[in-house]
Amino acid sequence: MTDVQPLHLVTLLGSLRKGSLNAAVVRTLPELAPAGMTFAALPSIAGYPIYDADLQAEGIPAVVEEAGEAIRAADGVVIVSPEYNYSMPGGLKNAIDWISRLKGQPFAGKPVAIQSVSGGTLGGARMQYHLRQALVFLDAHVLNKPEVMIGQGQNKIDAATGKLTDEPTRQFITTQLTAFVAYIEKLR
Ligand code: FNR
Repeated sequence: MTDVQPLHLVTLLGSLRKGSLNAAVVRTLPELAPAGMTFAALPSIAGYPIYDADLQAEGIPAVVEEAGEAIRAADGVVIVSPEYNYSMPGGLKNAIDWISRLKGQPFAGKPVAIQSVSGGTLGGARMQYHLRQALVFLDAHVLNKPEVMIGQGQNKIDAATGKLTDEPTRQFITTQLTAFVAYIEKLR
C-alpha cells in the first residue's frame, strides 16, 4: 500500500447565490479528491467590508485575520468562481484585496488551484486569467495546468442534489487535484 500524504486545502468561493453552480463544484470536491486530501471553506466573501485603507488603519477586520490564518495553515488554496463581465466578481477581488494587506501576506508562496463554472461555453476562462494576474502580484504559486473551466454548468450540475454530476467533468477535476498534489509536493 502506498503512503498517503494528508493535504489540507481551503476553498474560496466567488459566488453568493443560493443555487450557485460554483458552490455546487465546491460541495462536490471531497468526493473527487485523491486520498488524504481534505477541504475547509474560507469565510464567505459576503463578510468582508468594502476595502478602505482608512478602515484598515482602524484595524484589520476579524474576518480577514481569520481567512489569513486559515490560508497560512493550509497546504493550498482552491479558488472556485464565476466570471462576471469578463473578469472576477468584485466580491472575490475585494476579499483578496483585504487578505493581501495582512502582515506576512498569506498568499505569498502558497500553492493555488483555480476552477470556474459559467452558464456560457467558455467556462470562466477570462476571469481565470485576470485572477492569475492578481495572484502574480501576491507571489502565489498558481497551478498552470490542467485548467478547470466548466462551460454550460447548468447541464452538468444536478439542481436537486446541488452536486456536479457530469462524469467527464468530475474525472477532469480529479485529474487537476491529483496534479495539484504533485505540484504542492514539488514546491516543498
Ligand atoms: C455573468 N455571467 C457571465 N458568464 C460568462 O461566461 N462571462 C461573463 O462575463 C459573465 N458575466 C456576468 C456578469 C454578471 C454580473 C452576472 C450575474 C453573471 C453569467 C454567469 O456565468 C452565471 O450567472 C453563473 O451561473 C454564475 O455563477 P454561480 O453564481 O452560478 O456560481
